[in-house]
Order: sequence, then C-alpha cells, then structure tokens
Amino acid sequence: MLTVGVDLGGTNLRAAVVDPVSGQVRAEVRTPTRAEEGPPAVIARMADLIARAIARAGATPEMVAAIGIGVPGVYDPASGVVRFLPNLPTTWPDVPLGAEIVRRLGRPTVLINDARAFCLAEATFGAGRGARTVVGLTLGTGIGGGVVIEGRLHLGIDHTAGEVGHQIIDFNGPVCGCGSRGCLEAHASGPALAALGMKAVRQGRTTRLRDLVAGDLNRLTPEVIVQAAEEGDAVAREILEEVGFYLGIGVANLITLFSPEVVVLGGGMAGAGEWLFRPLRTTVQQRVRVTPLARVRIVTAALGDRAGVVGAARWAWQQITERTAEGGQT
Ligand code: BGC
Repeated sequence: MLTVGVDLGGTNLRAAVVDPVSGQVRAEVRTPTRAEEGPPAVIARMADLIARAIARAGATPEMVAAIGIGVPGVYDPASGVVRFLPNLPTTWPDVPLGAEIVRRLGRPTVLINDARAFCLAEATFGAGRGARTVVGLTLGTGIGGGVVIEGRLHLGIDHTAGEVGHQIIDFNGPVCGCGSRGCLEAHASGPALAALGMKAVRQGRTTRLRDLVAGDLNRLTPEVIVQAAEEGDAVAREILEEVGFYLGIGVANLITLFSPEVVVLGGGMAGAGEWLFRPLRTTVQQRVRVTPLARVRIVTAALGDRAGVVGAARWAWQQITERTAEGGQT
C-alpha cells in the first residue's frame, strides 16, 4: 500500500510517496511554498507537487490509498478545513484545504498538525522507536510538538493536544503569535533567537553579529548566531545559553507531565546542536525533581527533514485502516 505525505512549511512545500508500514520513502519532491501568494496559489502548487511525487514513484493516483497533509497549526479534523496557521501570511482562516486536494486529486485526504506528524514518524520509525511514551518538539519559526503513547498520537479536542510551543513559561512575558503571552515559542523560536541577536547589536554590545550580516540585521538568523558562537563570540554564546534555558524549562514541564522514555528534538533550529542542548539538558537536570531522569533520553531526530512527510503519510494510513476496520467508507 502507498500513501502520500505532505508538509506545508513556511519556506518549503514537500510531498513524498511513502510505504506507511515500513516508513520507506519511494519518492520525494519539494518546492518553495511562496506563502505570501496566499492559500489558493499554495494549494494549487501543493496539488501539482503531489502529482509529481506520485509520477516520480512510478505510480498512479489510483495506487495511492490516502493523502495526509501536515499543516503548521490548527484545523477541523472532520471537515479538513484549516482554522489558524499562526506563522503563515493571512493565517489561513477557514481554508477548505482537504476538500480542495480531494477535488484536484480524487484521493481520500486527511490533515494532521506538522509537528504531530514529526512526532508520530520519530516515535514509529526514528529516534523514539520502541519507547512507550515519546514527546517530540520541532524547533523552528514556530515551536510545535506532539505526544505519542503506545504508538498512537494523543490528540485531544480537534487535534490540539501537544501544542508545546504555546505552554506559558513566563506569565508576563512577550506577546506570542497565538495572542497569549510568555509562550515558549515567544522566547525560544528561531525569530525569538534572532531578535535577541538584534537587540544585542542595537544595544551596542561587543559582538561580531553585525559584521557577519554586513550590517543588515534582517539577515540575522539562528545559523548566523551559531556561527558567531563557534567563532568565539561571547554575546552569541550567551544568547544561545538563554534560549537553551527556556527550551529546558519547556522540556522539563513536558517530562514532568508525561514521563516519556524519549524526548525527540527536531526542526531547523536543532541544527544548533550542543549550543542549545547543553543548557537545555542542564536545566532539565536542575528543574525536574520527580521523574526518574536516568530513564529519560533527550535525543535529536533521526529521520532528518523527512519526518514530517513520513508522519503525515503514516497518519493517513492509520486513518484509512481504522475506517476500513470499522466498515466505513474510505
Ligand atoms: C503552531 C503549531 C505548529 C508549530 C510549528 C506553532 O506556532 O501553533 O501548531 O506545529 O508552530 O509549525
């Protein structure tokens, strides 16, 4: 059986044809999302991309049992209507994404949150394989997550369980994209990290950050801050330490709540590696007092940037097999 997994990212759109039982990717294609063009243009591009992935796998749409689309936010699982994507232009209110893909490709289509898809893939085929409880976090423009218990995602009402980036770690903290205050995402996402770099430069602190972006602070990214840290820049190191601490608080809360055997960290910012993970682990050691930490592993993702598409494909497969078992329509 083949399923298609799609990842709607702020920067890239990806689609892959996946064997959902083994997790093996048969073909994968990607293209820039160009989210600023708005939902209809992005959906048309997504449909073309899915068709290209199917053709590249040497398959036909009829051979695809289902399509799973990972979206970076909130949607109505029953109707496939997107409600709120906090980090995409327009935030996509009331966009009938699922129905549009069905109309264009004629295959059963389900939505899943992007980070929940990541977590499902890592728990099933990646770094969390074999563990009973896995918590996953994706660190990027947004901070997402998921909880997998005994091989199944814990989803809550309308799949909103696992919004780890919107746990409040500082109740009077900065305003978050979701409208609340002091969320982990407002303190420790890629843009939050870059903003700390900008602030340091504007405060006139002694740092190489300004030179590394030739004076254009809009080009300050997490990667540039990591580069500066590697070159010995004390300010960059201090900023990474601060963000690693915030992430550690977030992860400490999750460990205390779920007592997982494995916490998987992924997403673009995980590329910062030990610059973030050392302060993260130190904070967890200091702040988690009741969970037996010796039995909790905090690890980086194993499936690379494919986890999102593999997880979305696996989710579609789980949905299809369950509906079939219940005797319903696929
Ligand atoms: C959203 C999550 C999403 C994450 C990563 C967050 O702001 O609330 O739903 O998974 O960003 O894209």
